[in-house]
Amino acid sequence: MTDIDRAAERLGKTKNLLVITGAGISHESGIPTFRGNDGLWQNYRAEELATPEAFERDPETVWEWYDWRRGIIGKAEPNGGHLAIKELEELYDNFLLITQNVDGLHGRAGNTKMVEIHGNLWRVRCEREGTTSMLMDVPLPSIPPRCKCGALLRPDVVWFGESLSPHALGQADRAMEACDTLIVVGTSGAVYPVASFPSTVKSRGGFVIEINTEPTPISSIANIALYGKSGDILPELVKALRSNPAFSPS
Ligand code: OAD
Repeated sequence: MTDIDRAAERLGKTKNLLVITGAGISHESGIPTFRGNDGLWQNYRAEELATPEAFERDPETVWEWYDWRRGIIGKAEPNGGHLAIKELEELYDNFLLITQNVDGLHGRAGNTKMVEIHGNLWRVRCEREGTTSMLMDVPLPSIPPRCKCGALLRPDVVWFGESLSPHALGQADRAMEACDTLIVVGTSGAVYPVASFPSTVKSRGGFVIEINTEPTPISSIANIALYGKSGDILPELVKALRSNPAFSPS
């Protein structure tokens, strides 16, 4: 039996599925990851761009970086990995996707039971009023963009040194408690608190399946680690699940 078959067998018995994704799921859509050889943080210092202090100091540079990323992401399409996760949402009544990605590709693939725990880079927030809205222009007509009230708009994403939304953390906690299986895809497990979610699920009795091109700190606690591109492995896994006679979609 292959590891994919073992993972599909587990998914066949699963009643409540949690999926967590990181930048790796979008790599095959042409979006650079954060770490690694071509990672975004190789060329930029996180604290120069993705912190509230950096924005206060130099909003123009921070927005130039986001405008550049929005340009890449705006041309990208969801890949087979995103589409397979959308299929998983359809197959399970009890399903949640937690993504660390701010690119919006899971939403474009059709996922709705989803928490974008680090925010979304198409959404902006008024620095004065705290109101949020979608800003889809690529490239932005003027940098930095401003609210109608005249105050600066910022990307509605979580920056280093900022707290995650208590609402999103509550949803994540309930999902970790309720799930019997977690699939964790394409994350280096370097950024907390999401990096701790796989071990939390494991300690609460859940089964952890990791999908990544290489071993990560999560691999040592995963029940099954599937190495390869998520755009290949996830569709294979869904196919194996669908052909599992013991599985009846809920
Ligand atoms: P990283 O860039 O840290 O890690 C990407 C992971 O994806 C690595 O483990 C790669 O091995 C893996 N990977 C690359 N290509 C893959 C593929 N085709 N299939 C499967 N896996 C692949 O990205 P994250 O773990 O998502 O936060 O980073 C977490 C957070 O750090 C981000 O959300 C962002 C960043 O700073 C904020 O901006 C708040």
